[in-house]
Amino acid sequence: MRCWQLTPSSDANPLMIDLHTHILPGVDDGLQNAGEALLLAEEAAAQGVTALVATPHLFWGARPALSAAQIREGVEALNHLIGEKGTPLTVLPGCEIPLTADPLPHLLRGEWMSLGDSGCAVLVESSWEGWSADSTATLQSLLEAGWTVVLAHPERHAHFQRNLPLLEELVQMGVHLQVTSSSLLPGRASPAVARCAYELMERQLVSVVASDCHDLKRRRCDLGEAADLIRRGYGAHVARMLTTTVPRALLRCEKVERARIWQNIPAAESQWRRIVRAILRRQTDDG
Ligand SMILES: [Fe+2]
Repeated sequence: MRCWQLTPSSDANPLMIDLHTHILPGVDDGLQNAGEALLLAEEAAAQGVTALVATPHLFWGARPALSAAQIREGVEALNHLIGEKGTPLTVLPGCEIPLTADPLPHLLRGEWMSLGDSGCAVLVESSWEGWSADSTATLQSLLEAGWTVVLAHPERHAHFQRNLPLLEELVQMGVHLQVTSSSLLPGRASPAVARCAYELMERQLVSVVASDCHDLKRRRCDLGEAADLIRRGYGAHVARMLTTTVPRALLRCEKVERARIWQNIPAAESQWRRIVRAILRRQTDDG
């Protein structure tokens, strides 16, 4: 396990940590070169992000799985360039593991990268084809082996949009749900994705919000904008937990209790939440 230096935060200076990004250049469908990665680092810093985790797809195209050593090396090189440019941001290593693979033996041998190289939390992605008993069993085996599991952007998968009780069941098992920031921002995601993201927020099932940024245009780093929206809808405590406190706890191998996230929600309903509730009611009325 590696211990990364993360700066303490306060209400005035939230120091967000973006737990899911594709900033490592040239390894997947994310940024393609170092120049773009440096621009993304600047953009993230301007959004209020001080650390982001590079989580490239473990498999992409025909190449073999990205090894922990390759990711470590790439992140070190990127941090060197970011430091030379003077951007106030640190990149930590990680990866996005597909649940179609059996990660456990590879994680135990240190071949595959955990979040922040912590050796305790992993970011996993559901197959786009659907969910099966095998998927649940894979998550269960990770949890039983003591790993903390973060499920990437469930709101983007049609099988989860149609089956929120399944997500509730996974959360009960101890899985943490990561919603993507753009799914919450008006006009940035499809209606089905946005509705599912709002529903997960309203049911207080979300543990982390991260950008899953891939480029400088359509899938950029918009975590600061999402944090503002969450602050307006659910209060400063929830916004800070989802974008700062929980990501930091996961990187430090600290236990995360969902009940501690969803506290201090303002009694007065914001305009944004009124709109969210109206959208969710319309969905229910439509059947
Ligand atoms: Fe991703």
